[in-house]
Amino acid sequence: MTASRPRVVVLHGPNLNLLGSREPEVYGSMTLAQLDASLVQLGESLGVEVECHQANGEGALIDHLHAARGRAVGVVINPAAYTHTSVALHDAIKAIEVPTVEVHLSNTYRREPFRQRSLTAGACVGAIIGLGAQSYRLALRYLVELAELDPTS
Ligand code: DQA
Repeated sequence: MTASRPRVVVLHGPNLNLLGSREPEVYGSMTLAQLDASLVQLGESLGVEVECHQANGEGALIDHLHAARGRAVGVVINPAAYTHTSVALHDAIKAIEVPTVEVHLSNTYRREPFRQRSLTAGACVGAIIGLGAQSYRLALRYLVELAELDPTS
C-alpha cells in the first residue's frame, strides 16, 4: 500500500471551463483539462497530489474551499470574475486557514479598471498574475516549498 501524498487543491472559478475557446487572445488556447493534467503531472514530480475543481457558482467554490480545510497543505485559486466582487470568497479563504495563492492567467492590471481590484487577494498569502498557465505552476511550486515537502522523499 502506498502512503497518501500531501494534497494541494486547485480551484477554477466561473467561465474557466471554457478555457481554450473563450477569448483565446486573452486566455490562450490551452483547455482546462490540459491545464489540470499539467498541474497533476507537476504535482507528481513534486510529491503532492493535485486535486482540481472548476465551478461557475460562488457557493460551490466556497464548498470546495471548506472541503480543503484540514485535507490540503495548500490551495491555488483562480476566482475569475468573483475576484472582483466576492466578500464571501474572501471570508472562506480566511476561514479555512490553508495557505492559499490567488492566480490569474491574464494581467488584470492591463485590462479594464473593474479588474484592477481584488477582494480575494488580501485573504491569500500572495498572488501571481498575468503569466498564463505558469501562474498556476509557480503557485503550486511555492505551496509545496511552503509546506517544506521534499520531492525526493
Ligand atoms: C481571470 C481574470 C478575471 O478578471 C476574469 O473575470 C476571468 C479570468 C484570469 O485568469 O485572467 O474570468 O481570473
